[in-house]
Amino acid sequence: MPFSCSLILRVVVDKTLSNKAQYSDVGRVNMTDEWIKVAAPATTSNIGPGFDIFGLALKEPCDIIEGRKIPFIDGIIISEVTGPGSECIPLDPAINSVGIAAAEVLRRCEADFGIEIKIKKGIRPCSGIGSSGASAAGGAYLAHLLCGEKLSESEVILCAAHAEDVTSGGFHADNVAPCILGGFTIIRSYEPFEVIKIDPPKDLGVVVALPDVMVPTIESRKVLPKEVSVRDLVFHVGNASTLVYAMMKGDLALIGRSVKDAVFEPARTHLVPYLKEAESEAMSHGALISFLGGSGPCVMSFYDKNTHNGEIIAKSIKDLYAKNGMKCDTWVTECGEGCKRI
Ligand code: HSE
Repeated sequence: MPFSCSLILRVVVDKTLSNKAQYSDVGRVNMTDEWIKVAAPATTSNIGPGFDIFGLALKEPCDIIEGRKIPFIDGIIISEVTGPGSECIPLDPAINSVGIAAAEVLRRCEADFGIEIKIKKGIRPCSGIGSSGASAAGGAYLAHLLCGEKLSESEVILCAAHAEDVTSGGFHADNVAPCILGGFTIIRSYEPFEVIKIDPPKDLGVVVALPDVMVPTIESRKVLPKEVSVRDLVFHVGNASTLVYAMMKGDLALIGRSVKDAVFEPARTHLVPYLKEAESEAMSHGALISFLGGSGPCVMSFYDKNTHNGEIIAKSIKDLYAKNGMKCDTWVTECGEGCKRI
């Protein structure tokens, strides 16, 4: 594996040393309130031409974030992290996506209580399907519910995006927006912040293939070019425009033709073993399009549920990785809803 848990923790700690820690003394709290539980779904971002702009909520997998109010203290206590990759996730709320996002909600709401949180990861870290985004969005949404839903949807998204900024090396909301709103989301503008949600076509199937390699977003953003050419800009605007049109019209063939990326996936291809081969396998087994999910390493494929079988596409990618001695988890899923209380 090119990246290890200790590296992932170190880069996040380095980036946050100057942040004010929001520790609380668990020994002196009086924990009386009821636990509430939130499901925060995986998401796929970029989706070809929409780097840091497009995002799509998936039906599975998801993180489960549980929390309760703690009277008379400030801040967040993370008392448990379980699930795949939890050994990579710090309990320190100052450097944990859930903790940072939840603390930001408490700050904006001027809450006079703290929150104890338990995290059950369903999405392992550094996957490219919005693992940190689901944690951030789940943490923000949970705190929002505990604060009596005083914030707007956009403010909850911004609290979660703040956590993404701290842990992922860049302020981007293309995972947290669909994670909170569900469906297909478009960030029209970051300043001022404006996000649009579209209901994606019901017959759009999604295959997620996650090879056993970790690619931290913070590292994957470092390999990106600082500037793009006018030629690539024209290519991206054209494809981004038709992708939005196709999502609204339910034109699956046009979705397949519009998920194109001349800049970001090419810069990251070397980070994901057998990416191009996996995409070819998916295409030759019926995918409309296959592409790098977010900052990688997961390989996303769209297919038409009416005419093709997602299990066959998933197996073709799994087999390719197995042939090359690598494990690859797959999910055959579809577009989903945003964070919800369960
Ligand atoms: N848009 C972000 C990126 C998503 O590609 O870096 C990170 O998951």
